[in-house]
Amino acid sequence: MTDPGERLRSSLAADQQPAAEFDSPIAMEAMRATRVLHAGEQDPFPAPGRIRVITIANQKGGVGKTTSTVNLGVALSLFGLRVLVIDLDPQGNTSTALGVDHSVGTPSIYDTLVGESSLAEVTHPTTASPNLVCIPATIDLAGAEIELVSVVAREHRLRRAIESHLHALPAEERPHYVLIDCPPSLGLLTLNALVAGDEVLIPIQCEYYALEGLGQLLSNIELVRAHLNPTIAVSTILLTMYDGRTKLADQVADEVRNHFGELVLGSVIPRNVRVSEAPGYGQSVLTYDPGSRGSTSYVEAARELAQRGVSLQPLVPVAPAPAVAAAPPAAPPLNALVLGHSGTGTRTRSQESS
Ligand SMILES: Nc1ncnc2c1ncn2[C@@H]1O[C@H](COP(=O)(O)OP(=O)(O)O)[C@@H](O)[C@H]1O
Ligand SMILES: [Mg+2]
Repeated sequence: MTDPGERLRSSLAADQQPAAEFDSPIAMEAMRATRVLHAGEQDPFPAPGRIRVITIANQKGGVGKTTSTVNLGVALSLFGLRVLVIDLDPQGNTSTALGVDHSVGTPSIYDTLVGESSLAEVTHPTTASPNLVCIPATIDLAGAEIELVSVVAREHRLRRAIESHLHALPAEERPHYVLIDCPPSLGLLTLNALVAGDEVLIPIQCEYYALEGLGQLLSNIELVRAHLNPTIAVSTILLTMYDGRTKLADQVADEVRNHFGELVLGSVIPRNVRVSEAPGYGQSVLTYDPGSRGSTSYVEAARELAQRGVSLQPLVPVAPAPAVAAAPPAAPPLNALVLGHSGTGTRTRSQESS
C-alpha cells in the first residue's frame, strides 16, 4: 500500500491546479480521489521558530477539539514535522483515533501526572506516521483531578514532565509540535495543559451558542497568565463543522473573525461525514479518506499553522520562579531548546538559540 503521506501530498499537489474540464463538484471529487492514488511531490511544512506547545481547549464538548488535535497532528507529521500528541481527556478519543491502545493498564498520561513515570515511558507510536507519537489517556485519568488535589505543585505537573522530556531527547528527536487535547471542562487537567502550553488553540463550532462560555475560557487563560504561566496566550482560532448551506454558519464565522481578527485561521473545517467516520476505524480523516474535503481542509489549516510558526522567536524567560524547598529543580525553559533535523529525510529548519 502507498504511504498515506505520499498519497495525500500528491492529491494536494494535483488539487492546486484544477483542470478546466473538471467543473462539477462530482467531477472534482472524482479527480481528487484519483489523484490521491498517483505519486507526486509537495514541499514539507516549514519547521517552527521554536518548539510549539499548543493546548487545544474549549470547555464546551463536541466542538472539534479531539478531531482537530488528531487531524492537525497527523497533517503536520505527514508533511515532515515531528509531533507529540498528549491526550488529556479520560475518554481517550484522541488515543482511539490515532490507533493507540488506551485500555486500563496501558502506560498513559495518568502515570506521569499522578505517578512518577517519565513521558518517554508512556509515549506510544501511532499508525498514522512514524513522525507522530501519542501519550494516551486511560479512564484512570477521570480520578486524577481529585488525586492531584493533595500533590505539591499540582498545576505544574504536566509542564515539568514536558520540559524534562524535551531536554532528555536528542535535538533531532525533539518534536516540533506538542499538541495537548483537553477534556471539556476547566478543571485541574485543563489547568495543567494551560500551564504547560505556550499557545492555546480554540476550536469554535460554526453553530448556535458557539460563543457561549468563550468569555469564561478567555478569563481563565488570563488568570493562568497572571499567576501561573506568563507566556500562555491564545494564538489560534479554528472554525470547525462549517456548513456552507446555512446562513448561521456564516454569521458565526463573521462574528468570530470580527472579534478575534488575525487569530482566526483562514482555513475553515467543513462539516464532513468522513471526518466523523474516521475515528471508528482508528484513523484520522487524512489516512481514512485522503481526498475528502475534511482531509484537505485539515491539511490547509495545518499548513497555515505551520507557516505562522516560522516567525516565532525563542521566548525569553520572564523571571525565575521563586525557589520552593520541596520543589524539584526547574528544567531550563523549552524555548532554549534546539530543534534538530527531521529523521525522515524531510527538510526542517535547525534552530540556533543560545
Ligand atoms: N468537521 C466535522 N464534520 C463532521 N463531524 C465532525 C467534524 N468535526 C468533528 N465531528 C464530530 O463531532 C463530534 C465531536 O467532535 P470532537 O472532536 O470529539 O469534539 P470535542 O473533542 O470538542 O468534544 C465527534 O463525533 C466528531 O466525529
Ligand atoms: Mg474531545
